[in-house]
Amino acid sequence: MGKVRTGHSTSLDGFIAGPNDGPQAPMGEGGERLLAWYAGGDTEYRLPGSEMIFKVSPQSAEFLRETRETTGALVTGRRTFDLTGGWGGGHPLGVPVFVVTHSVAQEWVYEGSPFTFVTDGLESALEQAKAVAGDKDVGVGAANIVQQCIRAGLLDEIHVDLVPVLLGDGVRLLDHLGTEPIELESTRVIEGAGVTHLTFRVVK
Ligand SMILES: NC(=O)c1ccc[n+]([C@@H]2O[C@H](COP(=O)([O-])OP(=O)(O)OC[C@H]3O[C@@H](n4cnc5c(N)ncnc54)[C@H](OP(=O)(O)O)[C@@H]3O)[C@@H](O)[C@H]2O)c1
Repeated sequence: MGKVRTGHSTSLDGFIAGPNDGPQAPMGEGGERLLAWYAGGDTEYRLPGSEMIFKVSPQSAEFLRETRETTGALVTGRRTFDLTGGWGGGHPLGVPVFVVTHSVAQEWVYEGSPFTFVTDGLESALEQAKAVAGDKDVGVGAANIVQQCIRAGLLDEIHVDLVPVLLGDGVRLLDHLGTEPIELESTRVIEGAGVTHLTFRVVK
């Protein structure tokens, strides 16, 4: 059984998007800065089955390759799904996506759709994702879903693609977690170009 893990481009002050995210600015005001590292290096990383080509450091390219190879399914919140327009038809990682929501987006329900809308809760979505991921990991996002996972003790690993910027406002990843300390073990640090990839195990 793989891990349940999460990974987001995150500002030093903990935001994964700027304020006022919406259809015109899916990453919020100033939030695109968090993605600049995808074009900040000299090594091409091409997502198989997609038109996307990133230019990152060799270390980040290896990290992205590893993430793709070890991810078997994704669980995402409905806001991220809507803001990305269903990633234009399928997630760049090319894996099945389980969207946790209160209502099914009927236009995305068709034979062969990569999206499954789960209306009976996060745990159900995780179970379905684990079933298709097999030995691979399940990636979860975004803030609201991650916070629920942490509060329910369902998250095994936190990746942070740490970007050297202070956004000051926006969608904070690790918010609403109560006041009890949650222990983490730092397991890896990879220095990229314009980003530092941090990995933590959630101590249970
Ligand atoms: N920096 C990065 O790498 C990165 C990556 C991804 C996303 N983002 C950003 O993250 C932001 C979105 O994150 P978010 O935390 O606001 O929202 P989110 O986690 O994507 O989605 C939250 C929504 O999911 C549905 N939901 C959550 N839990 C549920 C449950 N238990 N049962 C039923 N439905 C449930 C609800 O929508 P409904 O009630 O409408 O169904 C809820 O409003 C955006 O700004 C996006 O750009 C950043």
